[in-house]
Amino acid sequence: MDYRTLNNGVKMPMIGLGVFRITDVAECEEAVYQALKQGYRYIDTATAYENEEAVGRGIRRAGTPRDELFIATKLWLTDANYEDAKLGFESSLRRLGLDYIDLYIIHQPYNDYYGAWRAMEELYQAGKIKALGVDNFRQDRLADFIQFNDIKPQVNYLETHPFYQRQDELDYLNSQDILQVAWSPFAAGQFDIFNNPTLTAIAKVHGKSVGQVILRWLLQRGIGSIPKTSHLDRMRENLAVFDFNLSAAEMAQISLLDANKTVVGKRETAKGVLAFFDDFKDLDTRA
Ligand SMILES: NC(=O)c1ccc[n+]([C@@H]2O[C@H](COP(=O)([O-])OP(=O)(O)OC[C@H]3O[C@@H](n4cnc5c(N)ncnc54)[C@H](OP(=O)(O)O)[C@@H]3O)[C@@H](O)[C@H]2O)c1
Repeated sequence: MDYRTLNNGVKMPMIGLGVFRITDVAECEEAVYQALKQGYRYIDTATAYENEEAVGRGIRRAGTPRDELFIATKLWLTDANYEDAKLGFESSLRRLGLDYIDLYIIHQPYNDYYGAWRAMEELYQAGKIKALGVDNFRQDRLADFIQFNDIKPQVNYLETHPFYQRQDELDYLNSQDILQVAWSPFAAGQFDIFNNPTLTAIAKVHGKSVGQVILRWLLQRGIGSIPKTSHLDRMRENLAVFDFNLSAAEMAQISLLDANKTVVGKRETAKGVLAFFDDFKDLDTRA
């Protein structure tokens, strides 16, 4: 496993297991348990995924020493204000059965996320959060956020895959020493990504799979990844990416696949963002 030292000195694994949409409790517990047994140490969940309890059960069953684990979870936007961020954080801790979180993240740049950050800074100073993150923050918002807060985020999560490469965002994050983590690194399986001819040809040269080529390409750009799978063989495959290198020519070939294609669609209109809020209107962040 490759690790990156974050801008506050914390070491973070560059590949983790994402558990979005693993809503079946038994399946989620099993996936987390199996992942930890296979050598994963970083698990990415969120209040909005409604599976933190199952993640906690998988962690306890695996028995991995706590100081080896890197557990990330996220504050939902209805809790993005000073008071509710503290309650939301305590609810996540309770559901996960943990007494601190390795990476606590503002899930979306909506609501009073400045107030939420002040609460998170206090929890960080108290040792209950080891690293602070944001998610889906584009560089204009992030520049403002850094300017007007005391503590700069250690991590920003962004949708990043061969069809949405985010080089401008990466350049800015590198200039700020903030780690970019790719969510949906396989474009959630869309756009026929696993049969893409360029990726398939490169995979063949290395005797690797398309998924492994994508994760390697992200690693060589200095980007972390949280691929989701509940299949044991794919978990192993997604972790076996530290024993080969893509050449500069192969990196350049992949860079040509950039097409500004997102898996969730852009939420830059009022209609788009309100529809997104509506999708989660029944979420109970204290359950
Ligand atoms: N912060 C955010 O706003 C946000 C948004 C979306 C996602 N995320 C995070 O990012 C994680 C990953 O994103 P995602 O779940 O959207 O999609 P993804 O990881 O890009 O792709 C997952 C899909 O790829 C398949 N897959 C995984 N490994 C494979 C392999 N080696 N070969 C072939 N197929 C493979 C999975 O199938 P099987 O499961 O059937 O194996 C699943 O259909 C999420 O779980 C979540 O933690 C965050």
